[in-house]
Amino acid sequence: MRAIILAGGTGSRLHPLTIAVSKQLLPVYDKPMIYYPLSTVMLAGIREILIVCTAADEPAFRRLLGDGSQWGLDIAYATQAEPRGIAEAFLIGERFLAGSGCLLILGDNLFYGGGLASLLQSSVSDVSGATLFAQEVSDPQRYGVIGFDRSGTPNSIEEKPTDPRSSWAVTGLYIFDKQVVDVARGLQPSARGELEITDVNLAYLEAGELSVRRFGRGLAWLDTGTFDSMVAASEFVRVLEQRQGVKIGCVEEVAWRMGWIDQDQLLALARPLCKSGYGDYLERLAAL
Ligand code: TTP
Repeated sequence: MRAIILAGGTGSRLHPLTIAVSKQLLPVYDKPMIYYPLSTVMLAGIREILIVCTAADEPAFRRLLGDGSQWGLDIAYATQAEPRGIAEAFLIGERFLAGSGCLLILGDNLFYGGGLASLLQSSVSDVSGATLFAQEVSDPQRYGVIGFDRSGTPNSIEEKPTDPRSSWAVTGLYIFDKQVVDVARGLQPSARGELEITDVNLAYLEAGELSVRRFGRGLAWLDTGTFDSMVAASEFVRVLEQRQGVKIGCVEEVAWRMGWIDQDQLLALARPLCKSGYGDYLERLAAL
């Protein structure tokens, strides 16, 4: 199983913040936004990761993440010339995927909560068809919404419905089997000119190969695409980190807990980060 983090887009709802800087490099409290989806991928146990971003932003992503070897990862990069839709990721990533299944995560989505790692690890261990992760929201009209029959089996997905059939929104985290590249190849651009991830999901639904895992209320799913949601995500991270003394989305910590780097490597990563306090946290971990 390999993972794609989609970090292109225009970020137009954050202009002028995103004129010169990728949305996914903006801060969410004490770290760049992409650390959060990256750490989610790592918690799923996946180490081969493709970052899809714009050509203009690629050097900055490389400066931040490198080839991932410092965290025991293998990070590759590919560019998306225009924001032609989320499902284009599978076409851009075809060579990288090399026939394996794919976890796709949106670069502006943050997931946090107990049980997330084991849920993800069990979901990627045996992939057939597509798995979506859904959460109840108060404003389903803004999202892709899943409808269910009486037995709880998903039977519809509607993008931004005016009259939603449920309050279960599709989150920006998806797991697909190797068929996904062929499914994406068969798509036509939508009215807004994009290859829609909803159309990929519908193809799996129609084939009877779509399953939905529902996140309970103990799991936080935040996206960060607007000024207010970015501030809310920062505040969420700040409050929990200060209250509990643990970091959310700390890629160095996840690498160490997964056993991909040892204590000495963690200490070496900590040293240049000490002035901000981030490195002190890593040093405390290494001393545990
Ligand atoms: P969106 O929030 O739908 O789009 P955007 O990031 O361009 O922002 P805005 O609506 O403000 O213009 O994208 C969700 C995520 O998917 C985000 O992390 C960017 C990424 N994305 C791409 O990388 N390529 C694409 O073609 C699209 C549509 C999104």
